[in-house]
Amino acid sequence: MKTIIEPFRIKSVEPIYFNTTKQRTKLIKNAHYNPFLLKSEDVMIDLLTDSGTSAMSSEQWAGIMRGDESYAGSPSFLRFEKTVNEITGMPNIIPTHQGRAAEKIIFSILGGKGKYFIANTLFDTTRANIEFSGATGIDLLCDEGKHPTIAAPFKGNMDTKALRAEITQKGAENIPMVIITVTNNSGGGQPVSMHNIKEVKKICTEFNIPFFIDACRFAENSYFIKMREPGYQTKSVQEIAFEMFSMADGCTMSAKKDAFANIGGFLAMHDSELATKCRNVLIITEGFPTYGGLAGRDLEAISIGLKEVMSEDYLHYRIRSMEYLTEKLAEEGVPVMQPAGGHAVYLDAKQFLNHIPVDQYPGQALACALFVAGGIRSCEIGSLMFGKYNIDGKLIPAQLELVRLAIPRRVYTQSHIDYVAEVIIEVFQNRGALKGMKIMEEAKLLRHFTAKLEPLS
Ligand code: F0G
Repeated sequence: MKTIIEPFRIKSVEPIYFNTTKQRTKLIKNAHYNPFLLKSEDVMIDLLTDSGTSAMSSEQWAGIMRGDESYAGSPSFLRFEKTVNEITGMPNIIPTHQGRAAEKIIFSILGGKGKYFIANTLFDTTRANIEFSGATGIDLLCDEGKHPTIAAPFKGNMDTKALRAEITQKGAENIPMVIITVTNNSGGGQPVSMHNIKEVKKICTEFNIPFFIDACRFAENSYFIKMREPGYQTKSVQEIAFEMFSMADGCTMSAKKDAFANIGGFLAMHDSELATKCRNVLIITEGFPTYGGLAGRDLEAISIGLKEVMSEDYLHYRIRSMEYLTEKLAEEGVPVMQPAGGHAVYLDAKQFLNHIPVDQYPGQALACALFVAGGIRSCEIGSLMFGKYNIDGKLIPAQLELVRLAIPRRVYTQSHIDYVAEVIIEVFQNRGALKGMKIMEEAKLLRHFTAKLEPLS
């Protein structure tokens, strides 16, 4: 098999500033052992997130110049609306400044005390917005999704048996929405099958519960369906995406992922009455319904990006890049999530640092070690992000202790990825020396963003 080459040429570049292990040891200490608190110029390879970090295409930059900044009725909005409608088939399209703004709007309307939102796995901001409304979020991930190193084609699927049981127990009238996140970010960027989406839709229809898709990575999910699910090989990604969206009553989207945009998002839905309520909140919190917290130029970049992302040459390269890094790590025995996800490579920190108990945050220890060893910034997705305390103040750990290496779209080349593999393997070989962490300071919600930690001696 030939090398998979990046399906683009580079026209504009940004410098990477190199630093030394000694400097990075001090930098991470000054950042209170939280990579979110590092200055990005001190990071050599930034894999903190794939969100808002894409390289835009020359077409998107051209769109930026075309952006019409009229307050109301801008042609940039009309182009955006048309594109989202073509992809989702949904008639009500509400732009927001990013995904969580869409979440805030919908959950503030449908949420509240005594309500339950059921998902395969809720992303952290989604869960936070649900909980902020007073409602409860419930994750019902399929069994195979809970085992990081067991290979299965659709580890992002929802456990539909558990869904039915949960609806019966909580009462359909208390469940304003069932949500499928594609791909399942917090569960390792694993895809959800069309079969599973159809099953979930069927159950939702039976109980008359609206079904929404968290669509941030809809193109990556569609490509996985094309590659892995019988019956989809000859369909285009756009057809698969359309079929996926046709099951849903609505969706929330962060355009910072599969739209290659640096900012933006939207809500889309069939229910016009609900859409009117959403637009009323939008006007208070985001802006007029034809720009919703975005500049006209952003709306242009998003609509162009949404079409570009469905290119199969691009998606082939994208998914192959994750597999490439995963294979390199697995060959050296590094415990890495299998199979590779769509936007990130996830290290299983529980196995990687099996001498560090979960209440000493092995994921955070590993993320800090990767920065010190090679200037790589990653993100803990484990008990620092999702842990809770019981009434005695003891940690209730997350299901998984992962470290996510999220790969920005069209940004790094194969040599950057080779370097990342070398650093991780080096850390793995010296893992015995790494120590656990304790939290010194933390916020009530989304604590991982601002928490201050210290290594245990
Ligand atoms: N849903 C999912 C599945 C996400 O991954 C994100 C963001 C959001 C919603 C919220 O979107 O950031 O535009 O407000 N994920 C980023 C990440 C932050 O790093 O995975 P947003």
